[in-house]
Amino acid sequence: MLSLKRILLIVDGPGVMTHTAPLVTSLLKQGVTVRVALTESARLLVGDYFTTMLSGTPLVTFPNIPEKILDDSDAVLAAPVSEKLARRFCEDDWMAIWKRVKGPVAFAPGFLPQEDGSEIRKSLADMGGGVIHWIMAEGEATDMGSLGKLDVASPERCLEAAMTALTKQELAGKSILITCGPTAEDFDPVRFVTNRSTGRMGVALARMAAWRGADVTLVHGPMSWPVPPHDGIHACPVRNAQSMYDAVMAKIDGADMAILCAAVADFTPIEYSTVKIKKQGSSDGVFSLKMKRTPDILDSIGHKAGRHPFLVGFAAESDHVQAYAQAKLEAKNCDMLCANDVTKPGSGFAVGTNQVTVFKRDGSVTELPQMSKEDVARRVLDMALAGMGGPAAG
Ligand code: PMT
Repeated sequence: MLSLKRILLIVDGPGVMTHTAPLVTSLLKQGVTVRVALTESARLLVGDYFTTMLSGTPLVTFPNIPEKILDDSDAVLAAPVSEKLARRFCEDDWMAIWKRVKGPVAFAPGFLPQEDGSEIRKSLADMGGGVIHWIMAEGEATDMGSLGKLDVASPERCLEAAMTALTKQELAGKSILITCGPTAEDFDPVRFVTNRSTGRMGVALARMAAWRGADVTLVHGPMSWPVPPHDGIHACPVRNAQSMYDAVMAKIDGADMAILCAAVADFTPIEYSTVKIKKQGSSDGVFSLKMKRTPDILDSIGHKAGRHPFLVGFAAESDHVQAYAQAKLEAKNCDMLCANDVTKPGSGFAVGTNQVTVFKRDGSVTELPQMSKEDVARRVLDMALAGMGGPAAG
């Protein structure tokens, strides 16, 4: 749940050309009000109208930030900010200013490639007295055209940090294992059997859980949807059903919740040819593939001896949705099962929206309306949290 909604975005230097537009537009898309404060060096590079037109709020010039704006801000994000300014921000007079802000204060410092980033990072990380949250680049270098490269967290990483700062941390301290995407079952070096899952639904679950403070392990097949650069999401890429099973079973102990959203192949080819199968090998023009069952991951967690995590399954159905979903909930011993009718337009595979019906162990059935996959993820997490005895309601 987005508990805070107004952010003050401070931008310094050439980062105004690379970070400001993507950050402001993606924050606005999430329903956040953005006030932009530009330093003199940023104002030299873009006209004042740029940020006003972009954010829809009047520009603030730095360092003259009106007290009212500070008092009204739920969070401050300085992205990017030069190392020199970041250090200045950690001095007593500025620290007193940050303490006026209702919520977190996060800085994404930028370094020139020739600077020894590791030393500077360490010394910066020791500053800020626990009030400042540092968003460090993870191997990203932003191309500044003729100015060269800047070692700074990408706009996407800054967005993830900002959204986490603006979200109530009701999953802090919780460990969640999520599976997503398709699996690919190889039968020769160039061919495999897969399905239409993009990974978008599972990634939305991982992202919404990480924004709420969860530590997420995301075991995913070869998906076409990107994993967001969030420090709380630990991606574990796998290829086929067996490797997904192995990875999940190795990581499941200690998880408080498991959400199995992957479209795992139910069958895998019995034989693998190490050389490409030739079409000439088939005299009658028919090629058949013999397949065998894969391990059922959801069922294995559901029937694992001892305590198992709060277990949420997904079900992709094309008919008799209610009956099949109820049967899966019971057979696989889940706490909750989210069924989506994959034949409905705007639901299931490879679209931005989904329409799920949530079946719970206590017999309750909740039909959610068609929503964006992010909103479905929010509602599923609310219900799972309520089922675990947490504060949110479904
Ligand atoms: O990735 P997207 O393009 O966003 O699409 C989202 C989705 C349609 C893939 C997703 O919403 C969804 O429905 N995921 C479950 C797909 C599925 O495989 O359903 P199923 O009914 O075949 O399997 C039931 C459950 O058992 C699922 O939780 C599945 O992860 C699990 N399972 C299935 C087989 C197997 N060998 N092991 C499993 O754990």
